Amino acid sequence: MLGSLRKHVQRILGGSPGYVDKVSDGVVEGWAWNSAEPDKKVTVSLFVEGAAAVSGVADLERPDLQAAGIGDGKCGFRLQLPYSHAGLGERPGWVQMSGAARRLPYRKDEIFPVPAPPLLTFLAADIVNNCNLRCPFCVVDYSEVKKTELMTPATFGKMLELLPLLPDGGFWLSCLHEPTIHPGFEDLLRMIPAGQGQKFWFTTNLARRMDDAMFQSWVDAGLHHVNVSMDTLDAGLFTVLRKHGRLEVFLDNLNRMVKVFRASAKPPKIRYITLVFESNFDELEGIVRRGYEEWMSSEHEVRYMYNMAHSPDDFRRDHLPTRDRWPELQARLDQLAAPHVVVCPPEDAGYEEQRNLPSNYFEIEKYRMPPEAPDFTPPLQLRARHNGNMYLVSQEGRFSFNITELADPVGYLLQAARESVEKVRAS
Ligand SMILES: C[S@@+](CC[C@H](N)C(=O)[O-])C[C@H]1O[C@@H](n2cnc3c(N)ncnc32)[C@H](O)[C@@H]1O
Ligand code: SF4
Repeated sequence: MLGSLRKHVQRILGGSPGYVDKVSDGVVEGWAWNSAEPDKKVTVSLFVEGAAAVSGVADLERPDLQAAGIGDGKCGFRLQLPYSHAGLGERPGWVQMSGAARRLPYRKDEIFPVPAPPLLTFLAADIVNNCNLRCPFCVVDYSEVKKTELMTPATFGKMLELLPLLPDGGFWLSCLHEPTIHPGFEDLLRMIPAGQGQKFWFTTNLARRMDDAMFQSWVDAGLHHVNVSMDTLDAGLFTVLRKHGRLEVFLDNLNRMVKVFRASAKPPKIRYITLVFESNFDELEGIVRRGYEEWMSSEHEVRYMYNMAHSPDDFRRDHLPTRDRWPELQARLDQLAAPHVVVCPPEDAGYEEQRNLPSNYFEIEKYRMPPEAPDFTPPLQLRARHNGNMYLVSQEGRFSFNITELADPVGYLLQAARESVEKVRAS
């Protein structure tokens, strides 16, 4: 077995001191090793358009290489283009070991296209400002929302111009609200350029009646995944936790969505989000198991409720579990074959009473930022409202703009990022 692996490696190598295995957005991975000095780690450089862009030591652990007898196996490398290259598209490049004339092959080529790194980690966009439900635990305080506002196709089209700056799974079609209440949701999905669907996902409560054509449009868009919120399968409790929703409608949607997805060659993945309450505690195992066995769960996130300032006191008193319930829950879920991740409450004592500001729900409390220069140090995250207003996450007071007013949004962002980097360098 080992011998054949070694032979296989030697055949691929063809005398090369290493190999480029993977090229993705701004990242080139592979391995390099000098058999003449087997104990010495080598340095590799990524050249783009003839200029060295980034170098690194090839010392990452690679059990496959160790098994194949390539040195001690610690000769992997991962070279990441600096994000000053973001937005520059695909350019020819190669990887070279320092002191060696030969370039490391990628497939059969020594020179290959190197795609630019994404400037943004994500763009959290909301195509609506409202929801059809009023869950008592919701991170959003809807008491001030009187009218449903919609993102127009023109505004969405402007946002799509930012796609070259985003990685797969980086474009959120909803963050805080319910995207399926947008009457033109399917039309917006149809605007996603061919081959770009893997950048998109959204979360839904599946609470409004939807037809199969809606689910088919999610498949056709080639979405990365769909998150489905599923807190209870008890009809009575559903009306409490998912206020204004009905279990029967949710399940009918879910079953048909899964049927449509199963009939497709490449459906979006389905992820589930379940909040932990005392009231649904004994159901949780069953929910995670059924999600996997019946409803195509690729991952099930079982999370604590972020305790918001506006969360009703009586709801918290009646539904929040105590801290000692979490190890028990973890142990029960770990018995299951279903893929799951448990997001436990923060360590601080008395979280049940505290009003935590969860890191990923940044819109709730308004940040008060001094009017300083924005910080463009990656990871960069953008937030977008339905009307095209956008800002850097947690830096609303420092960097915001309306994308509908920009002729070249990519150019604008890259320019702002470069100016910021230069300022930091100069100071
Ligand atoms: C804000 S919702 C928006 C999407 C959609 N309306 C829904 O509920 O599925 C996004 C996710 O956050 C969850 N969520 C809402 N309020 C939460 C809270 N206070 N703590 C933790 N998660 C919460 C929801 O259950 C949902 O899975
Ligand atoms: S369905 Fe989602 S957005 Fe709507 S109230 Fe419930 S948690 Fe909030």
